[in-house]
Amino acid sequence: MKRGIVIVVAVLFAAGCIQRIERKPDGFDEKKVSAACELIIAGFQKELTGELVKAMTEGGPEKAIAVCAVKAPEIADRYSQLPGIDIRRVSLQMRNPDIVPDRYELSVLSQFATTSHDEARIASVLARDSGDVKRFRYIKEIKTGQLCLRCHGDPGAFSLALKKTLKEKYPGDRAVGYRLDASRGAYSVTVIYPDAQATVTRLLTENAR
Ligand code: HEC
Repeated sequence: MKRGIVIVVAVLFAAGCIQRIERKPDGFDEKKVSAACELIIAGFQKELTGELVKAMTEGGPEKAIAVCAVKAPEIADRYSQLPGIDIRRVSLQMRNPDIVPDRYELSVLSQFATTSHDEARIASVLARDSGDVKRFRYIKEIKTGQLCLRCHGDPGAFSLALKKTLKEKYPGDRAVGYRLDASRGAYSVTVIYPDAQATVTRLLTENAR
C-alpha cells in the first residue's frame, strides 16, 4: 500500500515537472534578440551589397537600378519569411513608394537625421509586452557610402540615362541629394516572440560555430 502511494506521488511529481518544462517562460532575452537582429541585418546587407557591386561593375548604375529594384525587396521578403521576423529598409526620403515608415520608424529616423554621429546608430524598444506575446523593434541606421552616391547623391552628377531610368521607375523619387556619411535611412526589424524563438536560437547557434 505504502509503495503504491509512493509511486502515485512520483508519477504526479514527474507529470508536474513535465508540465513545468512545457510552461517554461518564453525565454525572451533582449540582448540575444538584438544580437539575432544584427545577424539578420548583416546578412541582408552582405547579400544586397554583393548584388549591387556585381551589377555596378557589369553595367554601371543605369543597369544596377533594376537589380536594386528587384533584389532589395526580394531579399527583404525572404528574411521576413522567417517565423516572427520582419525586416525592411526605411527612410525619411523614400525611393520605393510602397514602403511608408510608421510612427516609431519616423521618430528614430528624424533623430538620426537631425543629429550626427560617425558610427551607424541603433535604436530598439519592446513595443508590446502582453505577457505571452512580445513585439520587439530594432532599428539600425544606414550611412551613405561612396558607392551609394552614384544613385543617391547629387543628381547633377548623374548620367542622362540614369536620370531617365530613375524618372521612369520612381517618378516620385525622393532619395537623392545625399552627401557622403549622411544618414540614408535604416534597417527596421520587428521580432514577434515567441514565434521567432526558434529562429533567434538557430541564428545565434549558427553564428557561434
Ligand atoms: C544602382 C543604383 C543604386 C545604388 C548604387 C544604391 N542604391 Fe539604394 N536604392 C536604389 C534603388 C533603385 C532603390 C529602390 C529599391 C526598391 O525599389 O525597393 C534604393 C533604395 C534604397 C533604400 C531604401 C529606402 C528607399 O529610399 O527606397 C536604402 C536605405 C538605400 N537604397 C540605401 C543605399 C545605400 C546605403 C547604398 C550604398 C551602399 C545604396 N543605396 C546604393 C538604387 C541604388
